[in-house]
Amino acid sequence: MSKKTFLLTALMAGSLVACGQATTTPPNPNPETPTVFLNFESAVDVDAPDSAAQIRTFKEKGEDPLVITQETIKNAQNKDTKALKASFTLTGSWGGFDFKIADATGKKWSNTDWSSFKAVTFMFYGEGSGRTYRFDLLDNKGPNKDIDSAERFEFPFKDDTKGWKKVEVPFDKLVRRGWQPSGETPNDGVTLSEVWGFTFELSNGQPEAAPHTVYIDDISLVPGGTKPPVSVKISFGTPRVVVSEGETATVTVKLDKKPTSPVTVKYTTADKTAKAGSNYTAASGTLSFAAGEDTKTLTVKSTNNAVAEGNLTLKVTLSDPNGATLDNVKEAVLYLKDDEKFPYQDSSKTVEFRVNDLLSRMTLEEKIGQMTQAERSAVNGKKYDLADLSLGSLLSGGGSAPTTGNNPVDWANMVDDFQSYSLLSRLSIPMLYGVDGVHGHHNVYGTTIFPHNIGLGATRNPTLVKKIGEVTAKEIYATGIRWDFSPCLCVARDERWGRTYESFGEDPEIATMMTPIIDGYQGASLNNKNSVLATAKHYVGDGGTTYNNGKIDQGNTEVDEATLRKIHLAPFIEAIKHNVATIMPSYSSWNGTKMHTHKYLLTDVLKTELGFKGFLISDWAAIDQIPGDYNSDITNSINAGLDMIMVPDKYQTFYDGAIAEVKAGRIAMSRIDDAVKRILTKKFEMGLFEKPFSDRSEMDQIGSDAHREVARQAVRESLVLLKNEQTLPLKKTGKLLVAGAHANDIGLQSGGWTITWQGSAGAITKGSTILDGIKKVAPTATVDYVKTPTAADATGKGYDSAIVVVGEQPYAEGAGDNGTLTLSASDQATINNVCSNVKCVVVLVSGRPMVINNELAKANAFVAAWLPGSEGTGVADVLFGDFNFSGKLPMSWPKSVAQLPLNVGDATYDPLFAYGFGLKYPQ
Ligand code: BGC
Ligand code: BGC
Repeated sequence: MSKKTFLLTALMAGSLVACGQATTTPPNPNPETPTVFLNFESAVDVDAPDSAAQIRTFKEKGEDPLVITQETIKNAQNKDTKALKASFTLTGSWGGFDFKIADATGKKWSNTDWSSFKAVTFMFYGEGSGRTYRFDLLDNKGPNKDIDSAERFEFPFKDDTKGWKKVEVPFDKLVRRGWQPSGETPNDGVTLSEVWGFTFELSNGQPEAAPHTVYIDDISLVPGGTKPPVSVKISFGTPRVVVSEGETATVTVKLDKKPTSPVTVKYTTADKTAKAGSNYTAASGTLSFAAGEDTKTLTVKSTNNAVAEGNLTLKVTLSDPNGATLDNVKEAVLYLKDDEKFPYQDSSKTVEFRVNDLLSRMTLEEKIGQMTQAERSAVNGKKYDLADLSLGSLLSGGGSAPTTGNNPVDWANMVDDFQSYSLLSRLSIPMLYGVDGVHGHHNVYGTTIFPHNIGLGATRNPTLVKKIGEVTAKEIYATGIRWDFSPCLCVARDERWGRTYESFGEDPEIATMMTPIIDGYQGASLNNKNSVLATAKHYVGDGGTTYNNGKIDQGNTEVDEATLRKIHLAPFIEAIKHNVATIMPSYSSWNGTKMHTHKYLLTDVLKTELGFKGFLISDWAAIDQIPGDYNSDITNSINAGLDMIMVPDKYQTFYDGAIAEVKAGRIAMSRIDDAVKRILTKKFEMGLFEKPFSDRSEMDQIGSDAHREVARQAVRESLVLLKNEQTLPLKKTGKLLVAGAHANDIGLQSGGWTITWQGSAGAITKGSTILDGIKKVAPTATVDYVKTPTAADATGKGYDSAIVVVGEQPYAEGAGDNGTLTLSASDQATINNVCSNVKCVVVLVSGRPMVINNELAKANAFVAAWLPGSEGTGVADVLFGDFNFSGKLPMSWPKSVAQLPLNVGDATYDPLFAYGFGLKYPQ
């Protein structure tokens, strides 16, 4: 037979012989060193002609001996080694052996992409016979996509040495052979990205009756190809596809670049929650990309049945790539949306019925998912986790705005987008989105920012505070969010605490009095438009921790139970009466035990004794602080009574850990069911299943004049007049100096939890600064503003009076812990320079009482303005006499920090101004 016939016969010769030897090309750690590709130390599959073995001999004369074996021999370094031995007598003009590194089925024995190499080398043990042998490279360009039809390139070398020598075959010296197994086509040069094998031609047109023996060893690749390695990667263009049941899903498979030669890949469907046969028609096959083609699609037909089964999933996997490698994405998930409803989806049923029906259908995994709250940014790149894990809730931490922007519409779009993924979960359970709205919807640009709670406490006006709750809820609701981690019912006993301004005051009577804010947030029914779930926080004793070396936030509350109940628990009892939907435990400890693991207080007191029917949401990563490893944190917090965990980033770790802990029997299923029931009850009560998406109909109310008017009223009522020597109210005429950085800065007057978590100075949102308000309320006065005036700025300028606005820089939480509570040197200088020269009113913008003895002495009038928020005009309303002062101190004002903690009712009580103090000016 001719050589051509032989090759075709070989091609048709049936099944492959498996070869398990280690001949893969290892990645080369050192690009200077050749990569040994074959050292023949382990077995190589050698077979007779016509076999499909890895090494396959061929010869023109069938009866010629040609034997290939692996033999031990001394190598070039005189060490014992195995090498490939060829013993032959070739009386025909061709004969030798092929070495396959890939075959027609795509099976590879080794790396076929040689494009990052520049040469192949091998050791050759010759006889010094003077014969010329040939190394041929076979690429994958033949019409049959196999080694037998491959395009061939030759490199002749001479047996001129008796013993070992190294032969180098530079790829740029390869010459296309005149004879090609498939005729003249194709001819496009060596395709190093797909090398299918090589040949040692031993007759090479030198028929001879004499026997020869040669050895070959250490076939290596030399790094440094001129072309960078061409590696085409296969992935799903559509890793997730959503269809309604009955529809055909189209899945796109993409190559990351247009291939220069054909690529094939196999695909097959497999069940996840969907079952082949009943929910879809199983499909499998091969996708073939021609050279230059980078996209293919496959389809999967889903079945339309009349059974409520939930949204089901199946996957498509890829395998056996040929001519490319699989990229990271190895499966596509297809979601088949159910169009039948479960009983729990019927809103005419009672909440109790719906909760039980849904719970009875949930897997453990789905229940844990409902107990998980993740942060927006953690799921942003993995939104299908909302569906796959059935996550119960998402939040935005302080300042965690949508990636698209920080306007109301960005928020509503973001929440709706996340929700659309949650609704793809098997049981289509909507997620609940939560934010901190602790003085308005303050993360969002342009919203109405109210005074922080300390200022609201000074108003002693629960009707107003309830109204603030309503306005805040309306602004939150209009952005698609249905849960507000507010109010803080913390009773701040020591103003060195960085969260003092989140407290309504030092005595539980004020926080208790202000619980109608919960009715404002939640509305008459959770199912009402503009209702958002409220969160009473931080349970319990967060404001009672002991100051310790500059730190007080998240500390330890060292009081007996009677005191804890009287001071810190009291407002929570009232909150439960107002049906607060959720309660957040405190980071702090009570007498050394972390609240997040305090079963007595969380379960026995709150749920059993006080009958709290809502759910407990942990604080931000707070369970991480519980002693022990993370799984024990999960178990201890859930067993203590926590129902949902604000994870917030490593939600997968939490989810996996909680599932494992339940399976290990360390968390009882009854505890999980109780937690999930509590969560689902709220979701049903609030109509989340019926109204999962944003209702933007009142979005235009965000930051509206009507809303700002409520905030302005709150500012007016929050101001506490501490001193007035015939100074206030100011006349609206004449010449006025306004001084101090806080006079003209929305950021400073709003404090922490404004646009960002910590807050910042600057025009960070819309509203009026105190200076804007002064100009508005006293339009006929001549107003000069000097931020940090010198004495000269205040002297001889004919000012009738001055308003100096100074105070704290923004902070939140522990960053605001402060053991000195003094004004900055610059603020002190401003007061000095102005008040020594002009009759002055000092307005203090701060989250708490500060040590002001000197400043007070210099001022003719002194106003505690707290952190008023976006409506600075409210300050001017009162300074110019349009409204009188009505605010009363929500905290005792200390003479020095040495007195702290200082609280009304203390055995020795000697404040600078007593709790409840507040002047009015004469009418
Ligand atoms: C605070 C909570 C807040 C939560 C989410 C925590 O650091 O203590 O008051 O609700 O973060 O932002
Ligand atoms: C978040 C806050 C959270 C705080 C907890 C911040 O990164 O934005 O919401 O209260 O971390 O330490």
